[in-house]
Amino acid sequence: MNKPAVTQVPLHPLLAGRWSPRSFDRTHAPSAAQLTALLEAARWAASANNTQPWRFLVTTRGTDAYEDLYSLLAPGNRKWAGAAGALILVAADGNAGAFAQYDTGQAVANLVAQAGHEGLIAHQMGGFDRPGAAARFGLPEGTDPVVVVAIGRHDPGVTLEEPFAGREQAPRTRLSVDEIQLAASR
Ligand SMILES: Cc1cc2nc3c(=O)[nH]c(=O)nc-3n(C[C@H](O)[C@H](O)[C@H](O)COP(=O)(O)O)c2cc1C
Repeated sequence: MNKPAVTQVPLHPLLAGRWSPRSFDRTHAPSAAQLTALLEAARWAASANNTQPWRFLVTTRGTDAYEDLYSLLAPGNRKWAGAAGALILVAADGNAGAFAQYDTGQAVANLVAQAGHEGLIAHQMGGFDRPGAAARFGLPEGTDPVVVVAIGRHDPGVTLEEPFAGREQAPRTRLSVDEIQLAASR
């Protein structure tokens, strides 16, 4: 199933085609080259003063690290994310300055776009135990967990329980282009 963005003008297919499925093929594992490509894409994001505050911990299904990261997800995310081939913990080096979280988000956007190019799907999750992740993986002081990204292959035939099955089918919605524009003051 695809849910391309409805736009007034055509967008790049990677942008229009990206969405956040929960139906992962649990038999699939991203290749090492694909995972490297995701990190390369993230690495080349812009950042304030080139501080590059993003940090990634890549876990693959079948490893203790993956199981531990999975167990730190919020209950709703554990309903489906365990079928992803990889779970990536994304953190930001808060010592890098005021833009650390902003820059890390840009790196994740790059990573997600590259995932699309690789024929993979990505689903970002803010719902997880941040202190638990920092402790389990021994993150350095000031390196703050931001999101976990589930990466894998889409399987539209997966049966999800509610409310996730409904959300998988629901149209994607956005504010309009007009609504996201601020009025210029005189
Ligand atoms: C920072 C962030 C945190 C998110 N956290 C979760 C989450 O914990 N669980 C979940 O199912 N989706 C999560 N999402 C996915 C969003 O719900 C999703 O991107 C949004 O509804 C728009 O849908 P789309 O990505 O399919 O366009 C998160 C996305 C972002 C960017």
